[in-house]
Amino acid sequence: MAKTRTVSAKAKVMSTDHVQVMQTWPVQHGPRLGGKSALITGAGSGIGKAIALLFAKEGAAVCIADVDGKAAGRTAAAIAASGGQAVAVRADVSKARDVGRMTRTCVKQFGGMDVLVCAAGVRGPTGALIDAAEADWDRVFSVNAKGMYLCAKHAIPEMRQRGGGAIVNIASVVGLVGSKMLGPYSASKGAAVLMSRTMALNHAKENIRVNCVCPGSTETPMLFGTFARQPTLEDRRVVRDRYVGYHPLGRLGKPREIANAVLFLASDEASFVTGVALPVDGGRTA
Ligand SMILES: NC(=O)c1ccc[n+]([C@@H]2O[C@H](COP(=O)([O-])OP(=O)(O)OC[C@H]3O[C@@H](n4cnc5c(N)ncnc54)[C@H](O)[C@@H]3O)[C@@H](O)[C@H]2O)c1
Repeated sequence: MAKTRTVSAKAKVMSTDHVQVMQTWPVQHGPRLGGKSALITGAGSGIGKAIALLFAKEGAAVCIADVDGKAAGRTAAAIAASGGQAVAVRADVSKARDVGRMTRTCVKQFGGMDVLVCAAGVRGPTGALIDAAEADWDRVFSVNAKGMYLCAKHAIPEMRQRGGGAIVNIASVVGLVGSKMLGPYSASKGAAVLMSRTMALNHAKENIRVNCVCPGSTETPMLFGTFARQPTLEDRRVVRDRYVGYHPLGRLGKPREIANAVLFLASDEASFVTGVALPVDGGRTA
């Protein structure tokens, strides 16, 4: 694995009384996550997979967790094939036992955990909030909200052992503003935003930063599933155009564009950033 090198850069500033003031600050060279170990949930597909590939490219050893074990294995194999370090684990983030197992796998494999990214998520039913079946409400909240709580609960003791860490949760633009048609999903993503802010306050003194990224509509199997559910090709085109129209930049997002923002928040470049809900949404919430 490539190493991160910290060098000292010097700047000379001449003050008015001609006293020379020397200022030093660290400049990072090398991969942005060099020497770090990261656990990423939902990394078998879409945004989570893009994050895992980017983190590995930036020097992190990555633990790929997904309820779809085969998909997790494919992401890990792709990373290994390009010379990165990865391990795959099948885990349902809504089950405490699975979350404990995936956390232990990461720590055993890589000696600890510096970064947690919670990207596992489900979309849930289309429609108004009170029209959702109780079982659908429970399923959406158990993955999108309880899953994040369980992952943090297991990750934070490991981060304490390392003297700090970073958590990045994937919420959504519809966790910042309401959605008429994605009732339980929108509510669960709102919970994800405020869970992240709350944990940021809880753990700031322990040097553990907690932020979340709020993507706009992004080209992944989850979104393509929404289009595919339309009865005709013409209906699919209309619905796609409607989604595109929500974004002032006039297009959908790409998983790599979300991953870039997650990389920043997970890296030491964001060392003074915690409790932020960052929209990466083509201007949708502008
Ligand atoms: N695609 C979008 O437009 C969009 C927009 C905003 C937010 N998001 C959020 O981004 C995240 C990633 O979504 P995506 O679009 O990449 O979807 P995706 O369906 O491509 O990937 C989601 C992954 O999560 C996994 N998963 C689902 N339930 C799980 C569970 N209980 N335990 C572990 N893994 C589980 C799935 O197997 C899948 O691999 C989700 O949290 C989603 O809500 C997506």
